Amino acid sequence: MSKRFYITTAIDYVNGQPHLGHAYEKIIADVIARARRSLGQEVFFLTGLDEHGQKVQQAAQAEKKNPQEYCDALAADWQAFAKKLELTNDDFVRTTQPRHKAFVQATLAKLHAAGHFYKASYTGFYSTKEETFLTEKDRLADGKFDASYGEVVELKEDNYYFRLGAQQQWLIDTIEANPDFIAPSYRRNEVLGFLKNNKLEDLCISRPVARLNWGIPLPFDPDFVTYVWFDALVNYASIAAAHPELGLWPADIHVIGKDIVKFHAVYWPIMLKAMGLPLPKQILVHGWWQKDGAKISKSTGNVVDPIAVINEWGLDAFRFYVLRELDIGPDGNWTDAGFRSRYQAELANGLGNLVNRSLSMLKRYRNGIVPAKSNELAADAAKAADETRVLFKQSQLQAALQSIWGLVNRANKFVDETAPFKLAKDPAQAQRLDEVLYNLAEACRVLAVLLWPFLPGTATKIYAQLGLTGSPDKLDAATWGGLQPGQTIGEPAPLFPRKDV
Ligand code: ME8
Ligand code: MG
Repeated sequence: MSKRFYITTAIDYVNGQPHLGHAYEKIIADVIARARRSLGQEVFFLTGLDEHGQKVQQAAQAEKKNPQEYCDALAADWQAFAKKLELTNDDFVRTTQPRHKAFVQATLAKLHAAGHFYKASYTGFYSTKEETFLTEKDRLADGKFDASYGEVVELKEDNYYFRLGAQQQWLIDTIEANPDFIAPSYRRNEVLGFLKNNKLEDLCISRPVARLNWGIPLPFDPDFVTYVWFDALVNYASIAAAHPELGLWPADIHVIGKDIVKFHAVYWPIMLKAMGLPLPKQILVHGWWQKDGAKISKSTGNVVDPIAVINEWGLDAFRFYVLRELDIGPDGNWTDAGFRSRYQAELANGLGNLVNRSLSMLKRYRNGIVPAKSNELAADAAKAADETRVLFKQSQLQAALQSIWGLVNRANKFVDETAPFKLAKDPAQAQRLDEVLYNLAEACRVLAVLLWPFLPGTATKIYAQLGLTGSPDKLDAATWGGLQPGQTIGEPAPLFPRKDV
C-alpha cells in the first residue's frame, strides 16, 4: 500500500471574505485531489485559515471585536465557502485550534533547545499587510517601498531569530538535486537565483507582546508571541501529526500563490530540516488573477465575487473557467465577456449540446435502450483517457481539459458527419443508426469519467442521464465499452442552459 497522497493549500488570512484568487487556489487543489482519487490513490486534502498576526488583529480591532470572536464569525463563512466550491478537503485547519498551537509550541521548544534561535535587538521596516520585515534592499528606485506592502513602519525591538545562514548551500544543493521540488521551473529558477545572489538573513520568529499579543506565546519567553509565518507554515505538519495513523508526512504537494514562494521554498525547508522532518515533494506555484487587466482590489471595487458568479452560472461553469482559462503558473485576466464566451462555446454548445442531442436521439429513435456495442470513437476516447491519466499525474489541469475537449469536439463532429436525424428516416439504415447512437452514448459516459475531478456535478448528471448508478469517480472506468447494450437510459436534460446575453 503506497503512502496517502497529501495535498495542501495556502491557509488564508481571515481579514475579509474569500475572493477569486482564494477560490482559484482551492479549486486547483481540489481537482488534483479528486484526480488522484480517480487514479486509485488514497488522498488527504488539507485547507484552512491563518488566524493570528497583526493583520488579523487590526481587522478585528477595526470592527471592535476580540480577535477570537472575529475569527470565529469569519471562519464560518470560509467553511461555507469551501462547501459551496464542493471541495473534498479531509480536514480544515484553523491556526487558533489547540491541536495546532500545541504542536507549534513543541516545535519551538525543540528548536530552541537545539540552539537554532538567539535573541537580538533589531531595527527594521515592517509591512503588516504582508506580515514581513523589509530591508533597505527592498526599497524602489524612488526610496519608497512597493505599494503592495501597504503601510511600512520602522520598528526597533528585541526579538528571537532563527539562524538560516548555515543552511543556504544545503538548500541550493537540495533544489538543484530535485528538479520538481518547485514548479513551474521558472519559479524554481527565481528561487535559485535569489539564493545564489543574496546572503540569507536570519528569520525573526517572534513579536513582542507589547506590540502584538494575537499569536502563539513562545514557550520559553512569555514576553513574546510567535511570528505569524512561523506559526502558519507549521500547519502542514501539525495537522499531519494530528492524524498519526495516516502517515501523512511528507506532503506531496503544497499549492500556493507566487507571492509566498520565499516562505515556502526558503524558510519552510530550513524549518523542516531543523525539525528533523523530510521535505515536501513539491511546491506548486500558481499565478495571480487580475480583473479587466487591473489588480483585484477591494478598495477600488475591482473584484470578482465567486459566490455571485456561482449563483448565476453554476459551480461547474466557475470551476471550468478558472482552470481552462489559466494554466498553473502565469497570471490570468478575468473578463466577464471571456467567461460568457467560454460558457457558451465550450460548455453550452460543446459538452452540453453533445450530451443532450446524443441522449435525446437515443430516447427518440430507440426508446432510450442502448443498442449493440460499436467502436468507431473508441480510439479517440482512448487517446483522451491516456493523455488525461498522464496529465493528472503531472498536475497539468489545463492541458487535461484541452485533451478532454478534443473528444468533445470529435464526438460533436461525428454527429454532423453521420447525421443520425437523416439515418432515422431510412429503415435500411437502422443498423448504422444503432452504431452511431452507441458511439455517442459511450463517448458521453467516458467524458463523465474524465471530467469528474473538474466538474463533479456535471459528471454525476451525465451518469444519471445515462441511467447509470454509481459515480464516475474512477478513471479505470474510462475504458471503452462500459455501457451495456439493452440497458435503458434516464431523462436527458440540458447541462448548461444557453443564456441570452
Ligand atoms: O498569504 N490571484 O494568505 P492570503 C490568485 N496566510 N491567487 C491569489 C490572489 C489572486 N488575485 N490573491 C491571493 C497568505 N491569492 C498567508 C498564507 S500559508 C502557510 C499562509 C492567493 O489570504 C495567495 O497567493 O494573503 C495565497 O496563496 C492565498 O491566496 C492566500 O493568500
Ligand atoms: Mg496576501
